[in-house]
Amino acid sequence: MEGYRWRAAVVTLSDKGYASEREDRSGPLICEMIEAAGYNVEKTILLPDEKEEIKKCLIALCDEAGVDIVFTTGGTGLAPRDCTPEATMEVAQRNVPGIAEAMRLASLKITQRAMLSRGVSVVRGKTLIINLPGSPKAVKENLEAVLPALGHGLAILTGRDGECAR
Ligand code: MTE
Repeated sequence: MEGYRWRAAVVTLSDKGYASEREDRSGPLICEMIEAAGYNVEKTILLPDEKEEIKKCLIALCDEAGVDIVFTTGGTGLAPRDCTPEATMEVAQRNVPGIAEAMRLASLKITQRAMLSRGVSVVRGKTLIINLPGSPKAVKENLEAVLPALGHGLAILTGRDGECAR
């Protein structure tokens, strides 16, 4: 897998960001972190917390753009409009719970509020979708917890590496 750069999309879900009432700092932070880890960011998208729009966007990224991985940020909490996990589950074909579990496990060591993120991690086709919480602090802490292990999962998922080294 040396030299291959995973094809990624970053989707920010935020009513305020979409309405230009708040600057999106989390999407750009994800881009910066994953580019440093060897990913190519092919698309960045900002959407409001609207389930059907989010579903349509995720389906297009997986089925048409065919990116290897989609990171979402925001909309994972308990606010009435938060619907990122629901949209993600509704387009999912397989659950990959360990990634979300690892993020919450690591995050709980930093803040008890980590339990308030309902983020999920799933597969649709050959694309991995990972929900991150919305704040830049949470993005950094959650991504740091899982980023080192993702390449191996992507290699297996996309068939670029058939062997699961132990
Ligand atoms: N995880 C980490 N590592 N650090 C954080 O600061 N914030 C939590 C949680 N996960 C946080 C975190 C908080 S306060 C909330 S409300 C949830 O993520 C959901 O965030 P979201 O609604 O912005 O997606």
